Amino acid sequence: MTTPRTTPPDMGESPAAGESIETWREALAARRTVAETNVPGALATRPDMEASRRSFIRGSFMGGLGLALLGSVGLLVDYLYPRGVRGFGGPVAAGKITDYKKGAEPKHFLDGQFYVTNLDPAEKRAGGSGGGDGLIALWHKCPHLGCTVPWRPEFDYEGDKGWFRCPCHGSTYTKAGVRVFGPAPRPMDTMKIEVDAAGNVVVQTGVRTLGGPDNPQRAQKFPGLPA
Ligand code: FES
Repeated sequence: MTTPRTTPPDMGESPAAGESIETWREALAARRTVAETNVPGALATRPDMEASRRSFIRGSFMGGLGLALLGSVGLLVDYLYPRGVRGFGGPVAAGKITDYKKGAEPKHFLDGQFYVTNLDPAEKRAGGSGGGDGLIALWHKCPHLGCTVPWRPEFDYEGDKGWFRCPCHGSTYTKAGVRVFGPAPRPMDTMKIEVDAAGNVVVQTGVRTLGGPDNPQRAQKFPGLPA
């Protein structure tokens, strides 16, 4: 007579002493039943784990890709942003507002490629202001083929002295940049002028307007400008 088995036999375990082969088989069958009952449960959890692992990997990949793209765009914007532009193409200092005596000769700024003049509407001569009143900035590049146009105070054109005169093909312009002679297709181009509260004049050399017969009317008055 053997004590009835209370737990299923371990794998490879033989029948206990005195245990009938039928009892041992039933116990073994019970063990299999327990194992088979547990395995489907275990298998049922695997797809969820696999799906969550894939989601994690996909999320990590997409997140990394997004960060890399964001970084690239940031670097590109940083590279292209015109920060600290100095000289032609950006803002160029042009002295103090009080430097510009009304009706005086144009001041040339080579680094910014422009002239600044305080036009006097009372200057009635042919090469004068054309009625313009205030500050005007003219790009020194000839609208014909791009030569640098000098201001020629001694140059005499039709009995009047003081003109912008291109050395390349002779285009001639008034003090306000209006073309009066030569092959240039239009007057000299103008640039935007700014004056801060302290009276510092800055010319925005990247903000240009094609020259036109209205150049004299583009002259601007600013506080502190000599009258
Ligand atoms: S480039 Fe000035 S007139 Fe030709």
